[in-house]
Amino acid sequence: MLRPRLIPPVDIFPPNPWAIEAVRYDGRMARELTGQAETMFALSNGYLGMRGVTEEGSPVREAGTYLNGFYENRPISYGERAYGFPTVGQSILNCPDGTVMKLFVDDEPLILPDAEILSYRRILDFRGGTLNRDVRWVTPSGKRLHLRTTRLVSLAHRHLAAIAYELTAENAAAEVVITSELRNDQPLATDTSDPRMAEGFVGRVLQPTGTRSEALRAILSYRTGSSGLVLGCGMDHVVEADCALAAQAGCDDDLATVVFRGVLAPGRTIRIHKYLSYHYASGADPAEIRSQVAWTLDRAVESGFPAILARQGQETARFWERADVTVESVNPRSQQVIRWNLFQLMQASERAEGHGIAARGLTGRTYEGHYFWDTEIYVLPFLIYTNPPMARSLLKVRYDMLDSARARARELGQRGATFPWRTINGEEASAYYAAGTAQYHINADIAYALRKYVEVSGDVDFLCRYGAEILVETARLWCDLGFFSDRMDGRFCIHGVTGPDEYTAIVNNNCFTNLMARENMRYAAETVRMLKRDYPDSFDALVRRTHLDADEPEAWDQAAERMYLPYDERLKVHPQDDAFLDLEKWDFAATPEDHYPLLLHYHPLNLYRSQVIKQADTVLALFLLSEQFTLEAKRRNFAYYDPLTTHDSSLSVCIQSIVANEIGLRDKAIHYFNFAVAMDISDLGGNMMHGAHIAAMGGTWLAMIYGFAGMRDAHGRLTFNPCLPEAWTRLGFCLQVRGQTIRIEITHSTATYGLVAGAGLTLWHGEDCVRLSEATPSVTKPVGGAAGGADASAP
Ligand code: BGC
Repeated sequence: MLRPRLIPPVDIFPPNPWAIEAVRYDGRMARELTGQAETMFALSNGYLGMRGVTEEGSPVREAGTYLNGFYENRPISYGERAYGFPTVGQSILNCPDGTVMKLFVDDEPLILPDAEILSYRRILDFRGGTLNRDVRWVTPSGKRLHLRTTRLVSLAHRHLAAIAYELTAENAAAEVVITSELRNDQPLATDTSDPRMAEGFVGRVLQPTGTRSEALRAILSYRTGSSGLVLGCGMDHVVEADCALAAQAGCDDDLATVVFRGVLAPGRTIRIHKYLSYHYASGADPAEIRSQVAWTLDRAVESGFPAILARQGQETARFWERADVTVESVNPRSQQVIRWNLFQLMQASERAEGHGIAARGLTGRTYEGHYFWDTEIYVLPFLIYTNPPMARSLLKVRYDMLDSARARARELGQRGATFPWRTINGEEASAYYAAGTAQYHINADIAYALRKYVEVSGDVDFLCRYGAEILVETARLWCDLGFFSDRMDGRFCIHGVTGPDEYTAIVNNNCFTNLMARENMRYAAETVRMLKRDYPDSFDALVRRTHLDADEPEAWDQAAERMYLPYDERLKVHPQDDAFLDLEKWDFAATPEDHYPLLLHYHPLNLYRSQVIKQADTVLALFLLSEQFTLEAKRRNFAYYDPLTTHDSSLSVCIQSIVANEIGLRDKAIHYFNFAVAMDISDLGGNMMHGAHIAAMGGTWLAMIYGFAGMRDAHGRLTFNPCLPEAWTRLGFCLQVRGQTIRIEITHSTATYGLVAGAGLTLWHGEDCVRLSEATPSVTKPVGGAAGGADASAP
């Protein structure tokens, strides 16, 4: 189940609240943990992502450069096909790698693991938004050299990345060759033993469509065979050297190089600023894409590296101002690891406008760069409260998929819309229907996130223009998918679905799904009525676009009202589905440690016929629909499901932490939180090398804000019931609510609510109403007493 594999050794990675910093080079570790380091030091802006490979290009596990939404179609092959199985999937593509700057001293390549290192630092700088290296080494012939690199993927210009490369000869003259490359090396090999890995392509995927090169600049362009996307990528260099430096450029379809040659006298330095640009568009003219690349490079060269770096720092500072969560803890690593998570959330989302967020962001190809429900349930709350425009953009991306979702519903014989379980372009790309298409709950998850966005941001305009249409189509789906069952006393039942727990599939009345569908239908009906009453023009437009029938909202209300929720009188819990409690319990005692995750060691049928859970399912409902359960119900359900949950998905422990916290299981709450927050940094899943788990990062934020700060926000009412873990002495964070910014500071004895920007708002501290205004910009309340309400009666 949950076992740490790699806790970064403190002597190499000392705690630093603002960085992941390696202060020593360990050649063996560098070779063994290449993949982990590539993920750990990956840079991304949400549009362009580069794994943390070193400039020397070796050791390397996967030199990945990814563009959000840049994919190729691939046929999905089935041994046995059935009607409605998707036949074409999508896979994110690896783009030409421009990070390579190989170094040869006296014609010997620099290979770090083999070099005699004098000093070494590699820093992922959370404040600067950069990846920096500072290495001094001595060559076998006794020459000491000093290399400093700064790499960034620009937050200000999303098509731009830059590397500052600075080499100094310390004690002797050195003949130096630096080969700067932009190389198209794909396709990459695929690990076919792990179903989570991306499918590989056989043969060439990017078809060359021309190159352009002049002086120190080269631009390559390609077209994908089937998805019709045109890619342009290029590099340019600005050199400043204390010696004569010859430069020779070469460019063919798959490799552009500029080779710099010179003799560095002792104490002299070569500085190369390398700029990289990536653009793509559907059906574009390759020459035009190459021009776009050239313009980005022109602009970068004109600005110069120092200005680009300064701007990066400003953008990063703006992020931290909005989204930092400060924790004072007896554990000196806490703040660092928390910020690592937040930094990853920034990297996955900051410039993702117009695109979704892939399960691994842009740090790896696992799950093929697909967008899942991870975004709506795990990442969107963070964005809703810290970056509402990005939350809006992500929901708009779902709206843009609505036509495909309508078509898919028709294909599946349903009314309304069914959003794809996994996708890049809006088409269902999930081949395994039992844990894919059957997860209809994604439709309600989108509706849930939409509601939260509208309630917290107050953006009714979005609801009128786009949101209502999503709600109508998803409510229609539920109403059509379920039925009033005579055998169940006319209750509305939904059969043949899979809930979040992928170790249980195709069940009747998954409790989570039924609860979320109920919310979806209720909110849709409410919204339609609100539009009719308050926004008649939007209502008319909605009716035109959806052919909404006047009776439909009432039908949704009825289905919601009569929704069947499984309940077991004897155990006093909600069965995860109709059959779950009848299954035999999984034999955990007989399961070897190395058989987790179970999905890699047991046939699905073994899992499906047992009470064994991959990730929070009913427990997730206890959190998302918190106001619909009593504390006692939460306790009982948690107590039943927690021991059955393997947490084989990274989406699980954060949710268990939140609910454990609420029901007073403080030790469990912090235990699960520690796993959530260290998911990647400690490689708990053993697959960090394939990319960062973005939902777990979002889940970490949820566990701090909804867990330890005890926030609940059902229907726009903001309530806090804080209770810090013993090891923490302070927790502080900002939230944006309806255009205003509040800051919350929590200690073991007080909670202070401050108005940072805006005219004022009302929130609740337990049962106490707190009114913040310009006249009363800050209110402090005691924590731990009756008003704190943090479940004093808990075991
Ligand atoms: C989980 C899904 C999740 C997916 C992508 C799977 O292991 O079971 O809930 O959406 O990973 O993160």
